[in-house]
Amino acid sequence: MKTKFLHISDLHFSFTYERGDRNFCEMMKKMSSPLEQIRRIFDEVEKDYDFVCVTGDICEFGTEEEYRYIHDWLQDYFGCPVIGVSGNHEDKQAFIHGFLDLNQLDPVYQEYYFNGFRVICLDSSDEKHNDGIITHESCQMLRKSLKDRETPTIVITHHHLIEDQFDMPIAIYGDDFREIIRSSNILAILNGHTHHAYEGTFEGRKYYTAGSFSFLCSCTDNVLNCYEHASGQQFVYEDGVLTRTVLEDESDPVFLDKFRIG
Ligand SMILES: [Fe+2]
Ligand SMILES: [Fe+2]
Repeated sequence: MKTKFLHISDLHFSFTYERGDRNFCEMMKKMSSPLEQIRRIFDEVEKDYDFVCVTGDICEFGTEEEYRYIHDWLQDYFGCPVIGVSGNHEDKQAFIHGFLDLNQLDPVYQEYYFNGFRVICLDSSDEKHNDGIITHESCQMLRKSLKDRETPTIVITHHHLIEDQFDMPIAIYGDDFREIIRSSNILAILNGHTHHAYEGTFEGRKYYTAGSFSFLCSCTDNVLNCYEHASGQQFVYEDGVLTRTVLEDESDPVFLDKFRIG
């Protein structure tokens, strides 16, 4: 069995950039549209993916209409199913209705199957925890799902989990989550949030963070410098092995804006 899929993250898509933090909105008005950033990389790439997964911050506090638009645009452009998890910049109800096309109140946990390949969507977003949280409830569902050790499986979530990978606080999670991952045989955890690509291991399992299709920032002395430099990652699963390739804009990062935080 061969499965090929694309992982993209943090599009922060909006028609207007009028909702959310004012500094960020002004900066994002200066960047190329996330759709343009995607086209810059993928117009020349063979789009033969079995599915595309988007790990959160899909819209910048989007409306239902914006979530529906971006979902349908991605599905048409890549010609395959598009799935996603919520980030901390999401309007969650609009995301559930517009992107997931669901009516349930809270998509804490979902699973998708693509020709025998499983994707578990673990929702780390919570309006009370901007840096993310893996709840006890999520852990219980994850533990149950991962009793199936035969199906090739990845777990996708929004927030990063490794302390050293970036200078933003990691999601809150407990020892139960660590133990569940450690004792599982998942192929990898995929996430976003930092806007910087990263490869590592978490509790002995492969762990990959995607870059963004919006902006990325570096912080010095409470000043954020923001740039545009799109990147995503594609994966091929074949003969029991998962292989990752980073796909990124080949031109140099473009400076967008800087502003003081804190
Ligand atoms: Fe983001
Ligand atoms: Fe985020």
